[in-house]
Parts: sequence; structure tokens; C-alpha cells
Amino acid sequence: MVTQDIVKDEIQLIYVSERCASTDDAAINKIKLRAEPNNHRRNITGALLYTEHYFLQYLEGEAAVVDALYASICRDPRHTNVRLLLRKSITQRDFSRWSLGIKKLLDNSENQDFIAVLNMIGQASKVSESQLEWFKLALK
Ligand SMILES: Cc1cc2nc3c(=O)[nH]c(=O)nc-3n(C[C@H](O)[C@H](O)[C@H](O)COP(=O)(O)O)c2cc1C
Repeated sequence: MVTQDIVKDEIQLIYVSERCASTDDAAINKIKLRAEPNNHRRNITGALLYTEHYFLQYLEGEAAVVDALYASICRDPRHTNVRLLLRKSITQRDFSRWSLGIKKLLDNSENQDFIAVLNMIGQASKVSESQLEWFKLALK
């Protein structure tokens, strides 16, 4: 019998959403504590960037697994107005080292540009490839 490695299609999915007022830092820490082992188990990697008002999350992994997680994230009452920004096939991951990197963009001079652009994306539901590339700098 011939055994063959089956390479499953991988995707990167990015969405933006609005943080509910009740979703404070403690609530986000609770999401992290659950999401990290979940993502590890599902071979999902990614990063979650957030400000006072918005979440921006990168998810990477096998297409069906990422789509299923995204569907469950869309139903999560801790945020609203979840909008898909990008879903593309990938051959290489950007966040291969992280089950879920989380970064809060504090409102300080260092982050002002990132916050301004994330506010713009949150309002317009649109992002450019160059903005996404640039956001990775905030995460690395
Ligand atoms: C902004 C945000 C990001 C989230 N990210 C993840 C994630 O990366 N992985 C995950 O398993 N759950 C994540 N969640 C939680 C999911 O919506 C859902 O509650 C969880 O997957 C259910 O996990 P369970 O099957 O262990 O109950 C996130 C929730 C929010 C509000």
C-alpha cells in the first residue's frame, strides 16, 4: 500500500470587529486563556490586535478549521459587527510561532499611527495589503 502525505490547503483570514464596552482587559485575558490551547490543538496560529474600540485578528491554518473557528468567533457576544477583511490561500504562515499573540495598542505616541489606521479600517471595513503588511510591525 502506498501512503501519501496529504497537504491540506491553508488560509490566512483577517477580520475586524467592535469591542463591546463590557469586554474589558480581564475579559480579553479570559479569551486568551481559552483560545491559546484551542488554537494549539487545532494547529491554528495568529495574532489579535486590539484598541479601546476595535479588534483585528489574523488566523492561519487549515481552511476548514479556520472557517469553523471564524464562524464561532462571529457568534461571540463579546464583540459586534464582525467583518471579514481578507481570506486568502497561503503557503507560508506569518505567525507560525504563536498560537495566539495578543497585543493591546496602548494610546501612546508610539502607537498613534497604528491606532489611527485601525480606527479607519474599523469604520470603513476595508484594508489594503500594504496596511496589513505594516500592521505586522506592530505585532513583531
Ligand atoms: C475577539 C475574539 C477573538 C477570539 N479568538 C479566538 C481564537 O483565536 N481561538 C479560539 O478558540 N477562540 C477565540 N475566541 C473565542 C471564540 O469566539 C469562542 O468563544 C471559543 O472558540 C469557544 O471555545 P470552546 O469551544 O472552548 O468553548 C475569540 C473571541 C473573541 C471575542
